[in-house]
Amino acid sequence: MRSSTSDITGKKAGSISNDIFEKCRNFTRPSDLQAAGLYMYFEVFSGREGCAPGEIRMGKRKVLMFGSNDYLGLITHPKVKEAAAQALKKYGSGCSGSRLLNGTLDLHVKLEAELSALVHKEAAIIFGTGFQANYATLSALTEKGDVMICDHNLHASLVEGALRSPARTMRFRHNDMEHFERCLENCPPEDKILIVSEGVFSMEGDIADLPGILRLAKPYGARVYVDEAHGIGVLGPTGAGAAEYLGVLDEVDIVMGTFSKSLASVGGFIAGDRAVIDYLKHTARPFVFSASLPAASVAAVGAALQVMRDEPERRLHLLRTAQLLRGELVAHGFNVLPGETAIVPVVFEDELELCRLCKTLLEEGIYINPVLRPAAAQNLLRISCTAAHTEKQVERLVNTLERVARSLGIER
Ligand SMILES: Cc1ncc(COP(=O)(O)O)c(C=O)c1O
Repeated sequence: MRSSTSDITGKKAGSISNDIFEKCRNFTRPSDLQAAGLYMYFEVFSGREGCAPGEIRMGKRKVLMFGSNDYLGLITHPKVKEAAAQALKKYGSGCSGSRLLNGTLDLHVKLEAELSALVHKEAAIIFGTGFQANYATLSALTEKGDVMICDHNLHASLVEGALRSPARTMRFRHNDMEHFERCLENCPPEDKILIVSEGVFSMEGDIADLPGILRLAKPYGARVYVDEAHGIGVLGPTGAGAAEYLGVLDEVDIVMGTFSKSLASVGGFIAGDRAVIDYLKHTARPFVFSASLPAASVAAVGAALQVMRDEPERRLHLLRTAQLLRGELVAHGFNVLPGETAIVPVVFEDELELCRLCKTLLEEGIYINPVLRPAAAQNLLRISCTAAHTEKQVERLVNTLERVARSLGIER
C-alpha cells in the first residue's frame, strides 16, 4: 500500500495497492469452480497397485483412466520398469550437472543415436522435457530477420518458443494450405524461413497436411519442423509418427518428440542434421544451463523403444480401440471430431456443463480430461485411448457417458 497508515495485513480500504501479489489474491477462478463443486484440476492419483491395465488408483478406489497419454501402455511394462530400476541402481538418482559439462552419461549418447535412427535423421539431442525441447530449439535456431510460419493450433511450448524468438512470426489458419501458401508468398526471397507444425495436433487429434506443407515450402528453401509428441508410437509402420505415416519422414528437416507420452518417461528430443544438433548443443540455453535427465528416465525410454519395436501389435490394438470408441460415440449421437489417432475429442459447447460431466464421470469411476478454451478452439472432452484399454472398458465408457450426459440433461 502506498499509504503509511495501512493495517498489519497491508489492507486499507480505498487506497491503491502496489503489492505485486495483489493479482494472486484477486485470482478467484479456481476457488469459484471449487465452490461450485466443478473444479477438475490436480486430482490426486496414488499408483497402480492391484489395478488392471487401463486403471489407476485414487486412494482406495480404482478408476478407469481415459486421460493419460501413455499411448502404448508402457508405464507399467515390466521391461520398462526393470530398465529404470537397474539404471537407478547403477547410476544413482540424478546427474547433478549440465550435459555440456559433467552431466553426459553413456545412456544419453546411446539414446540419442537410437532416436535419430527412429526418425531417419543424422543426430539427436535430448532435453529435460518436451516443452524445453520446443522452447529451446525455436528460440536458439532463429535470428532477427528470420521468419517463422506456424500453424494456428500449436502447443504452448511452440508458441512460447516463437514468442522468445527474435524472428518475425506468421500464423496460418489450422491446416489450411491456401492460407499457408499466402504466408509464404508474403516472404521476400532472401528470407530464411522455418515452418512449424505438429504431426498430430495435441487437442483435436487431427493429422497435419505435411505433404502439402512440404510441397509448398521446399521451393522457398524453407525448413520444416514437426512436433511428433502425439505421433510417435501411434502412427507409421515403425511408430515414428505422422511424417512416417504420410510417407514424408525423410523430407522433414527437424523432428521433435517427447518421452512423456508413448515412451513412458519424461523428457524430449530434437532430431535433424548433425550441424543443427551440434549448434543446439552449444547454444540452446535451456539445454546448456539445465541439468541432464536422470539415468532411470533415460533407460525407461530406451526400453520403451525396444518394446515398441518388439510388440507392434500394441500400436495396432491402440488404433483399433480408438476407432471402436469413435464409432460407438458417433452412433450414440455425440459430436466427435473426426480423426484416426489415439485422441478422441468430443465437443461440449458449455464449459460448466463439461466440467460437471467430467466430475460426474469421475464419481462413476472414469477419469477424462476436460479441455477448455483457449487451450483448444472448442471446449472438449479429450478422451485418450491407450494400448492398455480393452473393448469392455470402451463399452463401459460409452455406456456411462451416455447415462451421465442424459441424467445431466446435456444436449448433443
Ligand atoms: C504437442 C506437444 N508438444 C510438446 C509437449 C510438451 O511435452 P512434455 O509434456 O513432455 O514437456 C506437449 C505436451 O503435452 C504436446 O502436447
